[in-house]
Amino acid sequence: MCGIVGYLGNEDAKAIVLNGLFKLEYRGYDSAGLSLYNEKKQRFDMYKDQGRVAHLEALSKDAERSSIGIGHTRWATHGKVNQINAHPHVSHSKRFVVVHNGVIENYKALKRDFLNGMTLESETDTEVIVQMLDSFAQNMSTKDAVQKTLGLLKGSYALLILDQKHPDRLVAAKNKSPLILGKSDNGFIVASDLVALSKHSDCFAPLDDYSVVVVKKDKVSYFNRENSPVEMVFEPMDFDDNLAEMGPYPHFMLKEIMEQPLVVRTIINKYFDEDVLKIKPDIIEALNNSDRVYVLAAGTSMHAGFVGKRLFEKMTDLPVEVHIASEFAYHAPTFSEKPFFVLISQSGETADLRACLVHIKELKHRVLTITNVRTSTLAREADYFLEIFAGPEIAVASTKAYTAQLIVLTLLAYAYGKQTFDIRKALSELAHAMESYLADFEAVETLAKTVLTKRNAFFIGRGVDYYVSLEAALKLKEISYIQAEGFAAGELKHGTIALIEENTPVFGLISDKRIALNTRSNLDEVRSRGARTVTISIDSLSEEDDAIILPDVHEYLRPTMMVLPTQLIAYYAALQRGCDIDKPRNLAKSVTVE
Ligand code: F6R
Repeated sequence: MCGIVGYLGNEDAKAIVLNGLFKLEYRGYDSAGLSLYNEKKQRFDMYKDQGRVAHLEALSKDAERSSIGIGHTRWATHGKVNQINAHPHVSHSKRFVVVHNGVIENYKALKRDFLNGMTLESETDTEVIVQMLDSFAQNMSTKDAVQKTLGLLKGSYALLILDQKHPDRLVAAKNKSPLILGKSDNGFIVASDLVALSKHSDCFAPLDDYSVVVVKKDKVSYFNRENSPVEMVFEPMDFDDNLAEMGPYPHFMLKEIMEQPLVVRTIINKYFDEDVLKIKPDIIEALNNSDRVYVLAAGTSMHAGFVGKRLFEKMTDLPVEVHIASEFAYHAPTFSEKPFFVLISQSGETADLRACLVHIKELKHRVLTITNVRTSTLAREADYFLEIFAGPEIAVASTKAYTAQLIVLTLLAYAYGKQTFDIRKALSELAHAMESYLADFEAVETLAKTVLTKRNAFFIGRGVDYYVSLEAALKLKEISYIQAEGFAAGELKHGTIALIEENTPVFGLISDKRIALNTRSNLDEVRSRGARTVTISIDSLSEEDDAIILPDVHEYLRPTMMVLPTQLIAYYAALQRGCDIDKPRNLAKSVTVE
């Protein structure tokens, strides 16, 4: 969702902020804006509009060179998508300029109580902040006005603030929404995501909740939630900027699908010392001390959680429940005596999960976060943390992060379940099998074109194949806008089969010997009612007419193999329809609002 970037230093602020905004495009947005200090006119100039960052770049092409600037990509939550509601927002006197990521829940009350019925220009919650700052700063220092304003906000925010009276400083503050400060010999850059600042920083420091940082060219002052000055601890920048480039691929999604064998190998390197699997003993200890695991997640990560549940139940004696994060946060089930919570999140910023975390912490239970972003809020706030090492995932539709989540869940179940098969070897074989499938998938492209001719489609399977079907359907609908459903193959006949018409596409997933024939019968049932069926099977269970036959891999790793053609089917269906594959409509990569 919204992304923010600010820069103060010796270089061209506009170029650096725009570059950061381009990098943040993947999070999803509908408008973009920028404010730069105009030294000649001694004021902050504003450029903003609905539309892409490329449009903002054109809008600001004649801007004076500036050493300080802030920028924003907006994913609308309060108010329409239009130029006025785009950030930055400026106070009536023009003194303060603000960009904001998050949601101010009490903005109406703040307007009523502190802005004396002032007419606001925009419909946003953010504008209240900038007008309050201006109003408070009339009787107190800027620092006090910032503290007073922040103290009144309820909700989430990552904020960058510019003050015309002090154009040599940039103020940043955060609560719940992420914000990271990067530093180099040439200046400071602050942004929502490492990807936006890595190119211009030698080291970085994530900001803590309720902290405020005042950045000047030669100095950073950092204040904690008690407003006391504290030392900022910077870590060396180890983010490889090239990983977030598209390279020779036409879309990030295709690049990320193709990277999956590499992701499996990276996980092997990170999690094994020679042949020994390294999962932190305190995590295993926490599992040992629990009687039930509660997996909480959303979307694709939740689908990984379902597969994880099945793996845990096969490899261990620990029961696992999977819950939709947004439901769990306010309708938690009755817990077992010794629950253990596992949050799965690619971004580590999903607001629904943050709400769960707050609730779990209140109850003083232990939490493990499994995420791709080690600097993320959910990684930092959980008791334990496992990184999935998928590398930056830029396409909105998650592919390689799903795979990486499955592998890390498998390793966790393996370590806890004291399994003895050679999992390192099984993973190496998986990487190899994925590679061989991804070297030749022309058939999928043709299938996607010829089969997906209707406005709906089904993916069916049993057991883990059902869970992979859920993910396959989500991928297809989010990027191609074809209405797709993932179904337990045996359940279709209990109602939904009524939707089957002539040529309705039904993909059947078969990777489990025990139920292969049952799924085949279910495919026969829909075929005899006109459906256009496509069978995706694993070599040892395949039949001659199966459309896609995948190499055999260890049974616990089959979901990772099965998902590959379904990702490609979604990709080519979307390509065929001319959809914006990497940035599908209405979607955001990092869903930072509830
Ligand atoms: C779909 C997709 C989403 C996310 C969901 C949770 O391709 O990416 O369904 O899985 O929004 O996001 P994270 O994993 O960042 O918590």
